[in-house]
Amino acid sequence: MSDLGLFMKQLIRRPHHVVALAPSSDDLARAMAAHLTPDTGRVVELGAGTGKLTRAILARGIAPRDLTVFETNPDFCDCLRARFPGITVHCAGAETAAGTVDPGIGAVISGLPLLSMQALTQMAIVGGAFRMLARAPPLRSSPTPTAPRSRRAWLRNLA
Ligand SMILES: C[S@@+](CC[C@H](N)C(=O)[O-])C[C@H]1O[C@@H](n2cnc3c(N)ncnc32)[C@H](O)[C@@H]1O
Repeated sequence: MSDLGLFMKQLIRRPHHVVALAPSSDDLARAMAAHLTPDTGRVVELGAGTGKLTRAILARGIAPRDLTVFETNPDFCDCLRARFPGITVHCAGAETAAGTVDPGIGAVISGLPLLSMQALTQMAIVGGAFRMLARAPPLRSSPTPTAPRSRRAWLRNLA
């Protein structure tokens, strides 16, 4: 089945989780992964879907063993495992990522529909992302209809 077909099927089954009508475009996926290099170290992707960003991340020279993804949809997880051998797929919420991976991550990339989530869930996910990172940014997230909160605002809310 095509990515669009997979997405539409899951969107009908789980509209509040998938949220988007289609996977990210190739251009968006490339732009989100553009800062990655083979020296970035371990990368965590949140809400991998059918793997549009996953493919772009690997194309930047990240070794599959250095990529860990969190995705809640079991059908998408099966698809990711089949498409990207060697990566680690956790069929689990992004909220669990910081408690699952070893700290010292080089980059976190999110394709999650953050603004459609409850504020507490948003804070758990974004706070967890900053805790996983070895150093300040880079945290990349899909464009959102309203401006995302600044890092300072997130940290103020987490304090
Ligand atoms: C808008 S889609 C983006 C998929 C993909 N990253 C892309 O750009 O094409 C959002 C994805 O996040 C997943 N998702 C939703 N809530 C999640 C959560 N709490 N933890 C992990 N994944 C989640 C959905 O199942 C869906 O695959």
